[in-house]
Amino acid sequence: MDKLFIFDTTLRDGEQVPGCQLNTIEKIEVAKALEALGVDVIEAGFPVSSPGDFNSVVEISKAVTWPTICALTRAVEKDIEVAAEALKYAKKKRIHTGIGTSEYHIKHKFNSNQDEIIERAVKAVKYAKRFVEDIEFYAEDAGRTDNEYLARVVQAVVKAGATVVNIPDTTGYCLPTEYGAKIKYLIENVDMGNAILSTHCHQDLGMATANSMMGVLNGARQVEVTINGIGERAGNTSLEEVVMAIKSHKELNIETNINTQKIYPVSRMISSLMNMPIQPNKAIVGRNAFAHSSGIHQDGVLKNLSTYEIIDPKDVGIDDNAIVLTARSGRAALKNRLNILGIEVDDEELTDIYQRFLDLADKKKDIADEDLLILAGKETNNIHRIKLDYLQVTSGTGGVRRVANVGIDIAGDKFDAASSGNGPVDAAISAVWQVICNNTTVKDGETEIKEFLIQAINKGSNDVGKVHMQVEHRGQIYYGFAAHTDIVVASAEAFINAVNKFVK
Ligand code: KIV
Ligand code: ZN
Repeated sequence: MDKLFIFDTTLRDGEQVPGCQLNTIEKIEVAKALEALGVDVIEAGFPVSSPGDFNSVVEISKAVTWPTICALTRAVEKDIEVAAEALKYAKKKRIHTGIGTSEYHIKHKFNSNQDEIIERAVKAVKYAKRFVEDIEFYAEDAGRTDNEYLARVVQAVVKAGATVVNIPDTTGYCLPTEYGAKIKYLIENVDMGNAILSTHCHQDLGMATANSMMGVLNGARQVEVTINGIGERAGNTSLEEVVMAIKSHKELNIETNINTQKIYPVSRMISSLMNMPIQPNKAIVGRNAFAHSSGIHQDGVLKNLSTYEIIDPKDVGIDDNAIVLTARSGRAALKNRLNILGIEVDDEELTDIYQRFLDLADKKKDIADEDLLILAGKETNNIHRIKLDYLQVTSGTGGVRRVANVGIDIAGDKFDAASSGNGPVDAAISAVWQVICNNTTVKDGETEIKEFLIQAINKGSNDVGKVHMQVEHRGQIYYGFAAHTDIVVASAEAFINAVNKFVK
């Protein structure tokens, strides 16, 4: 069996997505989950980009034992020095340096020429090699780089000491045959020595997994992926899709180190921490990925699973015999379900979540996994300075005025206000806003709601609604999120959640 290395970039390419930013503690939690999942390399960040990213790479390096910790840089000496410093505590470390190689990048980004770009690439690899033995080089926009020139770049960086060469389809432009042929061309025309080629595909045309697989079939031995395929624009290749494609096709004689039964819990954990819902029909981890709804399919599956199922849901950690949680479920059942979802809680946290679980179960018959993830993540709201104490709205048809009364707690002081609006949400937010403008340093006219998304989690009118909000304050965007069975409350809390990020 050939080994395929899994390079996870959820914490770098994935975390670049607006609204998906994690704090260092959350990143450590994700890194530990990725370690338990069995990834070979964790790309932990781009240290020179911000002190927060630097610190996260330092702390992840301390917290994780088995996977290689990788830090991204441009082909710039300062970036490389900062990355080497951030990786100080990593047991196994890698610097990922690179430069754009397509004509688009050479001309428009660098105003340079092909030979000069090779010189800069070689210089960066040699410089990085002074600090770290394991160096990965990325040829940015390799997808649109002429193969002959790309082979010259790859040969030069391998000679300079690169251990892995990444061939990113940065813009998600390639067709699977084209990307496969690119990898084949490089394998046939470059003396790789002990170095390997890596795929790094984007999903702009929906072909990231197909392109990565074609790369593997033509000789790449590392794939760069993210959990749930999150990433810039349409996203990156998703880990779960490539890993399960490899596992399902034994004839390929390729194996990965992934413990596939941990895929589902890690997927849920990422979705919940990053407030990034998973589309229901997403391959492997979507809510409907194993749900057979047509009569013919149900009949077949009941006779024999293999009629319509190519993967046993248990292989990806979906426990289809899961006990349905209701108001009568005990703490042990709740704790067990949280563990399946990748959430470890101590006794105190469990008591807190259990209380909120019972409150929700009173309003909603069956509690779904998504509900639990929200309940488990909700306590972070407690540390916020501004909190919603109460909210009462009047709304309806036939000339009824939409009016909201709110009570707000600002660092322990209580305030209230009333306001009207064109609907209950507008009235509630306007009342909240009045309190904030009158009692903090924030001024009216400096803040605007830019995006507002309400989403039901499951089905049914008793469902929990999630609200995502983008609020602009003095030219900066802040993200707010909340979930509640009452969407007016969820909207007011999401707004407060965003405001808490800039209010002094
Ligand atoms: O898509 C890309 O080209 C990248 C590189 C920085 C590796 O993410
Ligand atoms: Zn990328």
